Amino acid sequence: MPSFPHYRPRRLRRSEPLRSLVRETSLAPSQLILPLFVRAGAGVRQPVSSMTGVSQTSVDEMLRDATAAAELGVGGVLLFGIPETKDALGSSAWDDEGPVQRAVRALKREVPQLVVITDVCMCEYTDHGHCGVLVDGEVDNDKSLELLAREALSHARAGADIVAPSDMMDGRVGVIREALDDEGYGNTSILSYAAKFASAYYGPFREAAESTPQSGDRRGYQMDHANVEEALRETWQDIEEGADMVMVKPAGPFLDVVSRVKRETGYPLAAYQVSGEFAMIQAAAERGWIDLERAMMESLIGIRRAGADVVITYFAREAARALRA
Ligand code: PBG
Ligand code: ZN
Repeated sequence: MPSFPHYRPRRLRRSEPLRSLVRETSLAPSQLILPLFVRAGAGVRQPVSSMTGVSQTSVDEMLRDATAAAELGVGGVLLFGIPETKDALGSSAWDDEGPVQRAVRALKREVPQLVVITDVCMCEYTDHGHCGVLVDGEVDNDKSLELLAREALSHARAGADIVAPSDMMDGRVGVIREALDDEGYGNTSILSYAAKFASAYYGPFREAAESTPQSGDRRGYQMDHANVEEALRETWQDIEEGADMVMVKPAGPFLDVVSRVKRETGYPLAAYQVSGEFAMIQAAAERGWIDLERAMMESLIGIRRAGADVVITYFAREAARALRA
């Protein structure tokens, strides 16, 4: 190791041109994915109180947000649906006329430069708010698989580029891959939420997606936040079942998991900066306690530095704008 006084690291920090010359990690707008919440109707824009700048919108309004994102160079969008009706099975999830399905068709027609990813899960569609079917008060893994496959197929029929199962049922990637292949959607990719942790940081999202469980919590199927070896087993299993890309979520508190998953699998990796991570930065900035743009970029570069190829973030547009400036 070089040592002082020969090695003076400060020499390369003296000006921005020098710093940018030797900067190790980059972030491009094309590596950012913007989550969007879509509901029925026209002209609807309903702000989410816990997430500044985020709204539930109807498809027409969603197109404005998506177009603005595309013009800034944002790589893609991740769609969540708020259905008009919910039931015990979440059957509105595979309605070809549901908000997500209509949004996908509109996006492919109007903003073809965006990659369209759909979140595949039951919690937005079930009246009990869990991510699968309840049997005796518990989410039944194997009974949920067929429903998830139906939902994914409906998204693929609408034209989704990538379906992203976030339910954390065992075996869902394989079942979805087989359903897609059987129906002629062999080119539709799967981005699996491979290492998805049960997290307090999903709080604001549950307001945005109206998906708070009516009873209990998700710790029976989402991962325990203390586990990294298990995260690797989860990830390898999804890869073996046919995942094209994998995800770690949340991102900020799990950068060690991001780093190991990337190193050990080499697979295309997305990390999701979730609603609570976003809301904390926003809230501190609104109080004048933190500089919004700097904290945003530091958090996003940190996620890239840990090894994520793609960052899913509610800051996608603001970050793309900052990167262009
Ligand atoms: C649904 C889902 C959740 C998120 C993405 N998909 C919430 C949950 O599992 O409770 C969280 C996203 C965020 O907090 O921004 N399974
Ligand atoms: Zn869910």
